[in-house]
Amino acid sequence: MISKEEVEHKVDSLLEELTLEEKFKLMVGYFRFQTNTIKRLGIKTFKVTDGPLGISQHSSFLRKNTRFPGGINLAASWNRELAYECGEAIAKEARAINRLCVLGPGINIGRTPFNGRTFEYYSEDPYLTKEIAIPFVKGLQDQRIAACPKHYVANNQETNRHTISSEIDERTLHEIYLRAFKEIVEEADPWTIMTAYNQVNSEYVHGSAKLLKSTLFEKWGFSGFVMTDWWATKPRDLEKGEPPQPSTEEAIKAGLTLEMPVPFLYGAETLIEKFSDGKFSVKDIDSLIRRLLRVYVRVGMFEDKKDLPKGERNTKKHQDLARKMSEEGIVLLKNEKELLPIDITKINKIAVLGPNLNAKFYKFLKGGAAAVTPPYEITPLQGLKEKCKGKVELITNPSESDIVLLFMGLNHDSPIKLLNDKFTEHKEEHGNESEKMDRIQMGLSQSQVQLINDTVKINPKTVVILINANPIDMEEWLENIPALLEAWYPGMEGGRAIANVLFGDVNPSGKLPWTFPKKISDSPAHKSTKTFPGENLKVHYEEGIYVGYRYFEKENIEPLFPFGFGLSYTTFDLKEVSSDKNTLKSLDDFLELTVKVSNAGKRSGSEVIQVYVEHVKPSVDRPIKELIGFQKVALEIGDTKKVQIHVKAQDLAFYDVKSKNWKVDKGKIILHIGNSSKDVHLKMEISFK
Ligand code: BGC
Repeated sequence: MISKEEVEHKVDSLLEELTLEEKFKLMVGYFRFQTNTIKRLGIKTFKVTDGPLGISQHSSFLRKNTRFPGGINLAASWNRELAYECGEAIAKEARAINRLCVLGPGINIGRTPFNGRTFEYYSEDPYLTKEIAIPFVKGLQDQRIAACPKHYVANNQETNRHTISSEIDERTLHEIYLRAFKEIVEEADPWTIMTAYNQVNSEYVHGSAKLLKSTLFEKWGFSGFVMTDWWATKPRDLEKGEPPQPSTEEAIKAGLTLEMPVPFLYGAETLIEKFSDGKFSVKDIDSLIRRLLRVYVRVGMFEDKKDLPKGERNTKKHQDLARKMSEEGIVLLKNEKELLPIDITKINKIAVLGPNLNAKFYKFLKGGAAAVTPPYEITPLQGLKEKCKGKVELITNPSESDIVLLFMGLNHDSPIKLLNDKFTEHKEEHGNESEKMDRIQMGLSQSQVQLINDTVKINPKTVVILINANPIDMEEWLENIPALLEAWYPGMEGGRAIANVLFGDVNPSGKLPWTFPKKISDSPAHKSTKTFPGENLKVHYEEGIYVGYRYFEKENIEPLFPFGFGLSYTTFDLKEVSSDKNTLKSLDDFLELTVKVSNAGKRSGSEVIQVYVEHVKPSVDRPIKELIGFQKVALEIGDTKKVQIHVKAQDLAFYDVKSKNWKVDKGKIILHIGNSSKDVHLKMEISFK
């Protein structure tokens, strides 16, 4: 990797050479996913690509590329190493086609089960989000491909996404919505960041000096450059009451370097005119361009290709990784009388049904910008056919089968509709999870509910496999069925991954990165139209820091499935916990917990040991519990291991609005150790002095 000094040296020399007009040229996009060139200085086009689930077809000149599972699958794996490997693999696919920046990870917080883009994002919890995003960013950038965490910030719904203002109090903004961005900047140094479409507290982020200059640059030390989301700067219809865009000089002074993909604020003429009027200085422009050039040097734009990390695409290695990610993210939610795994030697016929049995999800632009079209896609039916070939017959009549597999859930919407907001509408029948639109109900379609209930009456050994991202209301059918798997959007190898889990070749180890509420009115964001989807283009985050499990625990509302929950085909005993120290002394301090865990069942498997913090006498209102550590561990039958969990004092902190800083109260702290937010097996007392 090129040294910091070398980077800054090259940037200095380029800055000296560039004319002001050339600098202006570098501030706007060219042809959707590229930037302008300055040939005389060797400044080539900087090609970017969506992101974040692989290299999308629409931004790679219609190429087919490895489709990895959704962001939510990755978060459900609770596996940092996999996140790194995924970032690394996507970077290699990008490099293979000369893309220098991947528009991901998507790290907006899961506030509502209606958000159309939940499948791209990670979790309702900022700690889990950053713990997965940090290795993902490192995986990308170790290959010298720029990451682009998005959408900064509070882009938590698609309804009115261009004009809505997320109204959030200061503490909540920092503690819940900005936190993952902050930690990623501080730990992984992402080279670019994409601003959100929406406003935050009535200010567009691309024009917000508060969110860019003061917070991102000055407080957190972000060294890369900021780009807009696509067409975010489009003029607004003021007569319709849409909030006006910031001025060109406001965006410049706020810290926006690159307007994508076409100029509204940064058109050459506008820039020249405003510059002549003294609205901004050369120094202002240089500080933006310095950031851009720094990234151009880091990705190797001025080096010989042979000296840069090599790219590769659609390799078996990447496809195997896609399957492994899918397997590790699948969550076993219910398994009465150990109906699963299916013993292939003991049955003759399996009935397979449901709208997602043979559905293909990964078509051009389906779901929106995150769409990746793979060279092939293994549907659940194909996966089952491979597994059962010559051993078990797959049929469609539940009454004649030993067991029934029902593939239910949601889907992404059609591409044509997505091209224009006017055409976006909801397909009630098959549900919908797509960019540009939010869901309108939490349940499955009535026909799916009926299919589940009718089938289980005919054959009680009915397993439901869900393909979807957002939590689903299961009130009408969950009690009736004995087994349930959450497979999320499992990527191009999904059918094989699901079959491997159903037949026990893989023991499920995924854990929910979201709380599943029983009904939508239990969700903290759904108290009124003011809190979701907003009124008069403002959505009020009245629940404050009480998002997800923080809210359910505070209000003592029983969720359908708690955050962090997931069963296994084996059982684990969490036996004892110890720590290398009992007192933390500063925000930079940390401790190592050791948890003794045994596999007490009859199969090898992996468990996620989770650590939650409880502050005994906090000076401000704090959640009952918050996730502050986890580690996934693999254990053979009868194995016992000592699992190390790194706990940082910084993760115990709250955002203090008075000092505008992070703070931990002095005093007693209890650590809860378990395998979900609900199932605490061990406790340990420490203190902060
Ligand atoms: C999405 C971004 C995406 C961009 C470029 C926008 O509509 O919000 O996530 O990266 O398009 O395709």
